[in-house]
Amino acid sequence: MTVRRPNLATETRLAHAAAGAGATLPAETVAPAIQRGSTVLAADVQGLYAADKPTYGRQGLASQKAFAAGMCELEGAEFCQLYGSGLAAVTGALMSVLHAGDTLLVTDGVYDPVRNFCESFLTRFGVSVVYYPATAAPEEILALAPPSTRALLLESPSSLTFEMVDVPAVAKLARDRGILTLIDNTWGAGLVFKPLDHGVDMSIQALTKYVCGHSDVFLGSVCVRDAKLEALLKRTMIDAGFGVSGEDAYLGLRGLRTLPARFHSQAASALKIARWLETHPAVARVLYPALPSDPGHGLWQRDFTGACSLFTLDLHPAPADKVVAAMEGLSLFGLGFSWGGFESLVVPAKPRRAGKPFSSGPLVRLHIGLENPDDLVADIEDAFQVLR
Ligand SMILES: Cc1ncc(COP(=O)(O)O)c(C=O)c1O
Repeated sequence: MTVRRPNLATETRLAHAAAGAGATLPAETVAPAIQRGSTVLAADVQGLYAADKPTYGRQGLASQKAFAAGMCELEGAEFCQLYGSGLAAVTGALMSVLHAGDTLLVTDGVYDPVRNFCESFLTRFGVSVVYYPATAAPEEILALAPPSTRALLLESPSSLTFEMVDVPAVAKLARDRGILTLIDNTWGAGLVFKPLDHGVDMSIQALTKYVCGHSDVFLGSVCVRDAKLEALLKRTMIDAGFGVSGEDAYLGLRGLRTLPARFHSQAASALKIARWLETHPAVARVLYPALPSDPGHGLWQRDFTGACSLFTLDLHPAPADKVVAAMEGLSLFGLGFSWGGFESLVVPAKPRRAGKPFSSGPLVRLHIGLENPDDLVADIEDAFQVLR
């Protein structure tokens, strides 16, 4: 059972998460030791079957326990199950709650590999998948749910184009109908959005992004308050053999300590750059709920206490080779498919939506890192000359 201290600020709670865990060493260190181990020794035969502690290393040892406790602090959860990647966290959560014959409702703004999992894996195991438009109103979303619907997967803001949905309203309507809600909370990082406080049942994160923060480790988490969901997650973890290494859990805990400082600093730079980009002649719109011009700004302002440093540019129509040249001309932005690390990145954004194309112009996603924002503005200014 995790001891939480909700009266303290998040930064304080994260800095002190798992305090005392280092006391198991001969000399107490600030950071807990990394515990490696597959075999766990029992004192007697009965101890081999203990239900209240790990009996095999795959279930996670001290390092995983310390990091999971820190994640509970972050998300306001009672239990956190760790996974080897963010994608594994989403798929592991879905595998924990779905049965053959069920229907899953999924936003069509979902992270694309999750859509692949729904289409290739879930349907093979007899689960039907229904997509709802990322901009749909809560009643419209629930109206799409047949009686067989067991779960609803949210992502708000959605991947690539950052549409917001009214999460508390959807969670309430779903709960009234006995439908479980799960959300990919990677954009809010558990720091500026707390899904469990808004009535969502399971908050999922790709910790690979902001929590780990250094672009060198894959991890994922599913955080819950409900004991029945905790039991389902644990059961599936044991049955399917999910699990993470002590080293990776250690890196996750280390990232967690500095998450608020990195996240807010990157967000301040992102807002400055996004505001400037709104005035750039090559840019039609900036898709970023932190901007008043974004259609999701009202919901974001109501439910979030901040933004991360990921947004997308909807450019005025331009020849494809010029857009490629603009991206390749950036010297401080790496071309790479991730975000949440310390470094700035750029990729073309190609959202898959059920309906019509998202926009007439090309979409370019920017992740703002810890570099000085003025240097990043100058870099974009230079590289985007080709679009003028
Ligand atoms: C919104 C979102 N969820 C989940 C993931 C998957 O995370 P991972 O790369 O750790 O599997 C990503 C990765 O880009 C993502 O953007």
